[in-house]
Amino acid sequence: MSADSELFDVAVAASKHYSATARTGPVGPDEHQVEALKAFGAVSVDKPIGAEAAIDLLDTVGSPATMRSTGGRYFGFVNGGVTGEARAAAILAGAWDQNAALPAMSPTASAIDAAAAEMIVDVLGLPSTATAAFCGGATVANITAIVTARDALLERADWDVHDRGLAGAPKIQVVISEEAHVSVHKALRVAGFGQQQVSVVAADHAGRLDASQLPNVDGPTLVLAQAGNVNTGHSDPFDAIMDRLGGPDTWMHVDGAFGLWANAVPQRQVHVAGVERADSWATDGHKWLNVPYDCGVVICADGRHLRRSMRMDAAYVPDGGEARSLMNMGLQMSQAARAVPVWTVLASRGRSGVREIIEHSCRCAERFGDALVAAGAELLAPVVINQALVAFGDDATTDRVVERVQESGTCWMGATTWQGRRAMRISVSDLSTTFDDVDRSIETVLLAWQGD
Ligand SMILES: Cc1ncc(COP(=O)(O)O)c(C=O)c1O
Repeated sequence: MSADSELFDVAVAASKHYSATARTGPVGPDEHQVEALKAFGAVSVDKPIGAEAAIDLLDTVGSPATMRSTGGRYFGFVNGGVTGEARAAAILAGAWDQNAALPAMSPTASAIDAAAAEMIVDVLGLPSTATAAFCGGATVANITAIVTARDALLERADWDVHDRGLAGAPKIQVVISEEAHVSVHKALRVAGFGQQQVSVVAADHAGRLDASQLPNVDGPTLVLAQAGNVNTGHSDPFDAIMDRLGGPDTWMHVDGAFGLWANAVPQRQVHVAGVERADSWATDGHKWLNVPYDCGVVICADGRHLRRSMRMDAAYVPDGGEARSLMNMGLQMSQAARAVPVWTVLASRGRSGVREIIEHSCRCAERFGDALVAAGAELLAPVVINQALVAFGDDATTDRVVERVQESGTCWMGATTWQGRRAMRISVSDLSTTFDDVDRSIETVLLAWQGD
């Protein structure tokens, strides 16, 4: 057996063991396991340790200090887990090591990309004419969509930004909620929009843009709406926004990193009503679809705009004509075949399986909300999808409860400040979370609170 093959066996065996034990033991590492990570920095490039020892270090030192975010009781940020078939597909895709930039580089990656893109538009309930392209995450998808929107709005105003640049270009008014995600603000900076061009609209108690506060607009307008507030899971009123501001000079982009997936479930669609009216969307596979990092998706109602903004031409790159080339639909040229795990999940489970993943997470979040309210905690916004936001009396108590829960090792929740109050964020994004995991975690939270 070759050394490479042996290494592969070791890595697969370690991966299998890790996955099989992700539910056992504490959710986060202890201080000794974190301290041990210094071993990685202790290796010098002048004294290489060899492949066998390197892989061994990854497993013996790296594995124990990971966050068990795939073990059912990790509720931090909006970090998804991973389905078994997505993990298996990623291992095979790792062996392929395909560059998915264009069909000439990998017919396999390109065929899977095209199939997965169509499926994702379909399961998300977006117009069938929309075009999806895979990228590194929702931040990248937001940047890609906002640059595309900028170029399209300027083109409608007879300004070719590729030819003339931004200096002296017609003004684009940007309308954004005060609750927009930080990644959207980064995207605006990258796209050359300054704060003075931005009209910030107040949000309500649940984090939804207040449509009665929308400004009057005149001329090119970029509206940045959100499906799924990172803390509450609530979405902006897309119909009201489009009824007020929609028109030939308006482009609505929706940041739906996780919340867009609510549109895949008929009984949750009410929480994202009108989302299909947007011109572009950003979402993630690595959050709620439970595929491995890093996998985001940018979707444009009219894919021609995406291609116009993201196109790269070079003599050494074959012109694929109208064929789909990811390098002409996003910021990166070389890129991983991110669609492989996505296609595998969608092909394996289908529409109904995706609905089950999403709906089950929502039910788990509701279970958290109901039990904690019954015990006297305060829900800071109704649970509508997979997020529950909870306070335990005053700020200091809430912080102490979060700290004790994190120390418990049974489950992991983060903290945030929500409309001036400290709160515990509970995000159910790992498909392996069971009702039993939720009940054990509720018990842990209540114990942490009683200890006060
Ligand atoms: C609403 C929203 N938008 C954007 C992002 C950024 O996503 P990513 O980390 O995939 O870039 C997040 C991450 O939590 C989010 O919740």
